[in-house]
Amino acid sequence: MKVNKVIVPIAGLGTRMLPATKAIPKEMLPVVTKPIIQLIVEEVENAGFKEIIFITHSSKSSVENHFDNSFELEATLEKRVKRSLLKEIKSLSNLKVSIQSIRQGHAKGLGHAISCAKTIIKKESFAIVLPDMLIADKSKNNNLSKLKKEFEESGLSQILLGKIGNKELSNYGIAKVSKNKILRIFEKPKISKAPSNLFIVGRYIFTNNFINYISKEKNKVSNEIELTDAIQRFINDSNEILFSYLKGKFYDCGSKLGYLKAIVDYAIEDKTVSKEFKSYLKKIK
Ligand code: UTP
Repeated sequence: MKVNKVIVPIAGLGTRMLPATKAIPKEMLPVVTKPIIQLIVEEVENAGFKEIIFITHSSKSSVENHFDNSFELEATLEKRVKRSLLKEIKSLSNLKVSIQSIRQGHAKGLGHAISCAKTIIKKESFAIVLPDMLIADKSKNNNLSKLKKEFEESGLSQILLGKIGNKELSNYGIAKVSKNKILRIFEKPKISKAPSNLFIVGRYIFTNNFINYISKEKNKVSNEIELTDAIQRFINDSNEILFSYLKGKFYDCGSKLGYLKAIVDYAIEDKTVSKEFKSYLKKIK
């Protein structure tokens, strides 16, 4: 069963990163010189998907602009003979994946954001990639591409799970698993209630019928339409979800600490600043 479409929800308000995110979407915050959303689009492109659907908000037009042509900038770079920069900028509007957007009028929760793509998804299977969860893997054979392969071979829904320490359990959806199957999801549980140390990293692939399990009702505790509630209903209705383990590092760029860790690690990897940056880090007490 083929999967080509990826929903990338970017309509959240990013309150944990305020005031930076008052006028700038959190997805446009840079990790060294690339905005987070560019790294996410590269991951999706490397995994071999064909279409991205951004779920957006009126304040997020800079994300759409980032992947559009910029004639004035390109002409200036050409005039100044900045060839490699020009190539990089041109490639942003010349991706192997197509991008389209649909608005989520009100940020009613992640589940609601995903349901906004229903008219574009039609009868197809689809992936979901959460852009604030950055996975450090630039290869074509990345975590998402393996998840895609598993889905296409088995025809069963797939979720990527990572391992975390006890302190962070209450920030994420935590999975109860048996063999290679997900049995239950606990949304942001207390340590005492968490069934495992396995959290949802923000990479999912679902068979088309999943979209019908997203409720119109808000969760009574969070007051949002939750994706995890839909996942639980889907499982309870005898739909199987398999999981794979995350390989490599992840960064929760929606949080201050995760974002800072991403910048440090990506700067260390950046050939143009790596040496000097490392020697600067060594000097910090
Ligand atoms: P988060 O809860 O992490 O993002 O949602 P947020 O609401 O933007 O951030 P905080 O908690 O206020 O700091 C996970 C993903 O789902 C999207 C967000 O943009 C983020 O990528 N989202 C969330 C929507 O698109 N719509 C929503 O109504 C809620």
